[in-house]
Amino acid sequence: MEINLGRLMKDFNNIIGFTSTPGNGCTRFSYSEEDQKAREYLFARMEELGLDVKVDTIGNIRATYGKELNKPSIMIGSHHDTVKNGGKYDGLTGVLAALEIIRVLKEEKAELQQPIELVSFAEEEGSNFGITMLGSKVCAGKYGLEELKKIQNPEGKSVCEAVKDFGLEIDQMEKDILQKGEVDAMIELHIEQGQILESQQKPIGIVQAIAGMRTYKVTIEGDSNHAGTTPMDLRSDPMAGAAEIISHIRKTAKCDALPTTVATVGKIECIPNIPNVIPHKVEFYVDIRDVEAKGVEIVSSKLAQKVKEVSEEYSLKSTIELVGKSDTVKLSSRIIGQIEETAIEQGFDYLKLNSGAVHDTAMLSGLTDIGMIFIPSKGGKSHCPEEYTSEKDIKAGCDVLLNVVRKLACKKTEKQKI
Ligand code: GLV
Ligand code: MN
Ligand code: MN
Repeated sequence: MEINLGRLMKDFNNIIGFTSTPGNGCTRFSYSEEDQKAREYLFARMEELGLDVKVDTIGNIRATYGKELNKPSIMIGSHHDTVKNGGKYDGLTGVLAALEIIRVLKEEKAELQQPIELVSFAEEEGSNFGITMLGSKVCAGKYGLEELKKIQNPEGKSVCEAVKDFGLEIDQMEKDILQKGEVDAMIELHIEQGQILESQQKPIGIVQAIAGMRTYKVTIEGDSNHAGTTPMDLRSDPMAGAAEIISHIRKTAKCDALPTTVATVGKIECIPNIPNVIPHKVEFYVDIRDVEAKGVEIVSSKLAQKVKEVSEEYSLKSTIELVGKSDTVKLSSRIIGQIEETAIEQGFDYLKLNSGAVHDTAMLSGLTDIGMIFIPSKGGKSHCPEEYTSEKDIKAGCDVLLNVVRKLACKKTEKQKI
């Protein structure tokens, strides 16, 4: 059994048109107008398939094929939001693969023994609130309503306000928390976003572990003053302090942590941000990741130490706030085995690897058996307009997932047709 690539690419070309930055990558934040248009497109396709569609309180779409079987589902999907000026393939590939897989199974009249659930998690990229995988974290019960009232976007709007404005009833969130036993397995198809598969010429990656991460917000406050009249030794300049801390983060991740550790400062704000004014406040975010918890720990503690040292040296006032956290997750050997067996049966060369990017699937660990299939990213580029995965690779990944789903969710007679 195989997917219809032309049909999948038609969906793809429609949804990538829903961007607020045409000509400069895809920008489709959760709860935006572009998100709404993508949802309307997806809902129309789901209706054609007769899926039982539910949107939960945080905006995760959960659409079930075979709901009447009343059994734990096999969940497949990903997310359809993007970073600012992001790529076309991150997340969307997994959502559209799930849609196409259900379409093929329906067309082929495959007899199900368990329902198949398509999921598209909201706010995976953290583009609004700076917290990655927010939708799947809420789905997994990792946030309470009171916390969501406090988390704000740069305009000062809380998660609760943003989802209410999007037409969702956040007050009811408790009832949507995923319960153990509700989902039998979650499998996500995703682009690799790295260079390993391409460099080893493998069309399929089987993920063994997903890196853990911490996101810190560092705020440094000093004294605003005239850039021309304030002598160098009479300044408390938060930008100079931030610069020292940021270069130290790079050095620690590279030299003092583990070979697998990475750390990034990708967002910085300076107030008032004027060339001839010593700023009074600088805020920046530190994203630290590793599949080994120890690597994240080393960079985190060196960061705290350096912030303290720099603050003392330049008479600055600093705070470090942990705004997001997820632990390293190992994927289920049952699902890894099924993916491996199917890739072999279908004649695809594969590689087992770890994921440096985080994924919604990781949040479901402990609630169900989880698995991920990776497909190559050209030049390892992702979270940028240059992100690209060939149609051939997309089809390979979808076909492997289709046949894994068939083995897991369909009756024995169906399995023999693989
Ligand atoms: C999400 O894509 C992340 O890994 O930051
Ligand atoms: Mn993604
Ligand atoms: Mn991403």
